[in-house]
Amino acid sequence: MALWGGRFTGGTDDAAFALSRSVEFDWRLAPYDLRSSRAHAKVLLKAGLLTEDQGVKIIGALKELSDEVLSGAFIPNASDEDVHSALERGLTEKLGELGGSLRAGRSRNDQVSTDLRLYAIDHLLMIEALVSDLQVALIAKADEYKDAPAPGFTHLQHAQPLLFGHELIKHAHALARDIDRIHDWFARAAISPLGSGALAGSSLELDPQSSAKELGFHSSFENSIDAVSDRDFVAEALFLLAMVGSHLSRMGEEWCLWSSSEFGWAVIDDGFATGSSIMPQKRNPDVAELARGKASRLIGNLTTVLTMLKGLPFAYNRDLQEDKEPLFDSIETLALVLPAFTGMVSTTKFNREVMAASAPTGFSLATEVADFLVRAGIPFANAHEAAGQCVHTCEAAGIQLHELSDTQFAAIHPLLTPEVRKVLTVEGAVASRLTYGGTALPNLVSQIANLHSQVDMNRMKIADKKRTFSGMMAQ
Ligand code: ARG
Repeated sequence: MALWGGRFTGGTDDAAFALSRSVEFDWRLAPYDLRSSRAHAKVLLKAGLLTEDQGVKIIGALKELSDEVLSGAFIPNASDEDVHSALERGLTEKLGELGGSLRAGRSRNDQVSTDLRLYAIDHLLMIEALVSDLQVALIAKADEYKDAPAPGFTHLQHAQPLLFGHELIKHAHALARDIDRIHDWFARAAISPLGSGALAGSSLELDPQSSAKELGFHSSFENSIDAVSDRDFVAEALFLLAMVGSHLSRMGEEWCLWSSSEFGWAVIDDGFATGSSIMPQKRNPDVAELARGKASRLIGNLTTVLTMLKGLPFAYNRDLQEDKEPLFDSIETLALVLPAFTGMVSTTKFNREVMAASAPTGFSLATEVADFLVRAGIPFANAHEAAGQCVHTCEAAGIQLHELSDTQFAAIHPLLTPEVRKVLTVEGAVASRLTYGGTALPNLVSQIANLHSQVDMNRMKIADKKRTFSGMMAQ
């Protein structure tokens, strides 16, 4: 059903209608459109533009329609252009002419932005909870392997030994920033455009603040043109979803490496690994690889919306219809990836022996030699040089640092006394990294506890937000 037509004499060309039609994808907004319609009906009632009886009828019909949308009894038909026109048809089928009265003081321009905000807020709360589940899984794994030494890498080369729990929990910190960003985003997203009409506001005595409150928004827009043009909330949401995707991708890459036979550190549980149709021996890390792969479309979706917005005159333009599919896709992609990734993390088993045996190799204790000399009063540049010579001598002789003789140490630097061997153990090296945020066990233990309470606090914040936005969620 078209929502316009009075000034037209000819119908819309089929090809133009096919291009224009968005109901295939914007039908996802139906529950939110019905909620914002209810809020708008209340505003019209308050302004005396609907009688009490009309208001009751409209709100009742919206409830009925909402149940039918939920059960699938009401669906768009071939002539519906978008979610808004389909639902107005539904309302008109129930109420006759009265169904068209909700259009007073409202345009699809403020309506679509309101609906999309409601959708985005509802769904980002869901994504936030899924990210928090992954954090919980990472923290539990970090706790399980908090005392397991492993090599740490830079440039994918052995760098310094670490506790593997420290390695695992770093990802939970990255996700904590993602959750922070989502919290920040709410403040800017939860502003109501309803009441702005097409662009200039309304001559009817509407109260945008009251519909904003009814829907759980913090307030309504200060400028009606800004209200119908602003899609910052979409671009910002897509950025933070892409950032989550990028974190998952980096994690996925590590899981792929760690589970390779070259590393032999991780065994991904059968439930989260896949086989090969031709090579019977294979156990592939597909969940980790798909997480890595899906990050590309999350980044693509952000690029799509930023490109669409760039240079767009600052009011409603039809280009803005292109904001929805990228947002739906990013949310739906992460809603698929996150639970699978969390399951993979929770069930992966790591091989302590292999990681421990590999920890001191690749001369990963060379920094300990340099630090030993620094403690003896040698400037770091000279200490670094001497430690480098130790590595050089070892490489030439095919031995490890602790296997250098007293004479060889002394020949490299007179202050390299036999005492140096005390720092040439993985346990000693790890235990000495006591700087705040360092890998030593007491640090890791308090890091785990801190992050635990941060996650608990976030979960409370999520529950709080759910309560705040209950107007949006309620049927
Ligand atoms: N389907 C449209 C969109 O997603 C709804 C708004 C239409 N507004 C208009 N002036 N044609 O943007």
